[in-house]
Amino acid sequence: MAHQSDLIAEDIEAYLTAHQHKSLLRFLTCGSVDDGKSTLIGRLLYDSKMIFEDQLAALEADSKKVGTQGGEIDFALLVDGLAAEREQGITIDVAYRFFSTDRRKFIVADTPGHEQYTRNMVTGASTADAAIILIDARKGVLTQTRRHSYLVSLLGIRHVVLAINKMDLVDWSQSTFDAILADYRAFAAQIGITDFTAIPMSALRGDNITEASPASPWYTGSALLPLLETLPVEDDLRSRAFRLPVQWVNRPNLDFRGFSGLISSGTVRPGDRLKVLPSGRESTVERIVTFDGDLDEAVAGQSVTITLADEIDVSRGDVLSTATSPPEVADQFEATLVWMDDDAMLPGRPYILKLGTRQVAAQITEPKYKVNVNTLERLAAKRLELNEIGVVNLSLDAPIAFDAYSDNHDLGGFILIDRMTNRTVGAGMLHFALRRSQNIHWQALDVDKAARGALKGQRGRVVWLTGLSGSGKSTIANLVEKRLYANGRHTYLLDGDNVRHGLNKDLGFTDEDRVENIRRVAEVAKLMVDAGLIVLVSFISPFAAERRLARELQAEGDFVEVYVATPLEVAEARDVKGLYAKARSGQLKNFTGIDSPYEAPENPEITVDTLKLSPEEAAQQIVDWLEGANDYSI
Ligand code: ADX
Repeated sequence: MAHQSDLIAEDIEAYLTAHQHKSLLRFLTCGSVDDGKSTLIGRLLYDSKMIFEDQLAALEADSKKVGTQGGEIDFALLVDGLAAEREQGITIDVAYRFFSTDRRKFIVADTPGHEQYTRNMVTGASTADAAIILIDARKGVLTQTRRHSYLVSLLGIRHVVLAINKMDLVDWSQSTFDAILADYRAFAAQIGITDFTAIPMSALRGDNITEASPASPWYTGSALLPLLETLPVEDDLRSRAFRLPVQWVNRPNLDFRGFSGLISSGTVRPGDRLKVLPSGRESTVERIVTFDGDLDEAVAGQSVTITLADEIDVSRGDVLSTATSPPEVADQFEATLVWMDDDAMLPGRPYILKLGTRQVAAQITEPKYKVNVNTLERLAAKRLELNEIGVVNLSLDAPIAFDAYSDNHDLGGFILIDRMTNRTVGAGMLHFALRRSQNIHWQALDVDKAARGALKGQRGRVVWLTGLSGSGKSTIANLVEKRLYANGRHTYLLDGDNVRHGLNKDLGFTDEDRVENIRRVAEVAKLMVDAGLIVLVSFISPFAAERRLARELQAEGDFVEVYVATPLEVAEARDVKGLYAKARSGQLKNFTGIDSPYEAPENPEITVDTLKLSPEEAAQQIVDWLEGANDYSI
């Protein structure tokens, strides 16, 4: 093997040329540090000479100093040393390492094996062609081997290599190897992995890594590196149907309008008939533009700008597809979801779904079930916690173009983003569209909100009071309604305690029940506003995300958020219903402000300071605001 790092240093051009035409294999290693994962990666980097001289010198010195390998090179130090550096930048969970041999380039996603394993594996595996699952020959198939394999199968990674490592510690016993292999094969069949290659090895000693080791004469298969060099990669992407998720609309002047993005599958040529999704409009490819001039053909993996023969509407997030075999378009799906955030997934909460280049608001139903990744058991679940995997239904605010994940990872894989924190909270795979929404259409009605309001001489809107239990919401809302009524306004008061006696009788006070409580009330308020009423809502509504949802259901200006600002100490001291005392003594669980959070509004239209104002004065403040607001009457 050429000394790669020398070539890089001496003649970078020659190095790049030599590499340009090699195929690329992306793979993932699964296992914990104890299985020898770091040693294996370190060994691959070392044997392909991708370790630079200064790193190597440091490694030899460290190995002597730390001495876990009796003066020999400890490859794990190399990888773990990089890992330590990496940990200082806490946002990077997956390290990608590059190496190459004379035959192929490789990118290894090294996913740390600690408790965030699921999240890291999903992040690292989304583009992987192969997975190496490490097993310690002394321990055999463990719970974590099953967990990793399940994820690998879920993520649709096509090639699985079972690296049965540390064979030197079991005296290269063929019967040990065979027993582990049989054990694994039985399990793998259950999760749909029928095809895998098992290799006995010692990553530490370098046996069966680059070439067949004399230590295992009974093993006639390939060593690891030659196997990785010959695994088929996803070159069939080019022969699939053409898909290009539009990254941006390139319009430098009035004469040019191109659609730019990375081709995720297929091939495109000028003259091809294309369909734009989700609109379904069609046109023909005029030019394929790149920085280096126009192309006669472009294929999966290339970034291009396409111009069309007709002036049709195409926006960022749309998908350009071959007209003959377009992706489906839908707004409701069944999907597998992997939850990645410390805050649990809550059914009904709006998240942002990102698929390809498209972003759209999404809500998740209660999981149909979650999977115990250790036993593969299906369990009933109300929510998904960090690292949990479940099957859910998704409902989007707008239709999107998609393919099933099993057909196309780019157009079937998605991530979910929390709208308040902007964190990536989940990742998933679309199974299929649910047809039910496609048969339900919006019925246009002749008498509308404005007409209904006009008859009452007012404009329907929501006045949403939020605050701790005992803050005074209900008292104030009641007074506001009385005054509006006296002014001849048509109103309705939705009060938390009252609605929980009927419509929301089935809900308690867990986070997910509160989300559902507010979702229903927000929808009821929307109907009542549509009926032309002034709706007073008095609910603790502790979460900013659901108050935002309630706001977004209303037209601009029709949602008036009132923060009834009473400090916890004061609400607790009043304790009108005696609930704080119960909560403090542990008789009442999940009590807001005690062991369940309250997120105060950041930008309410009105803040009522109950320390300074009497309930009557507070009510007057709200009525004054409403009667004086904007230029339209309430
Ligand atoms: S919300 O959080 O889901 O918006 P909601 O306003 O409907 O709450 O109901 C709050 C009322 O339920 C409180 O005023 C109180 O009387 C009662 N309650 C009973 N248990 C709890 C609890 N664990 N947390 C808060 N309020 C509770």
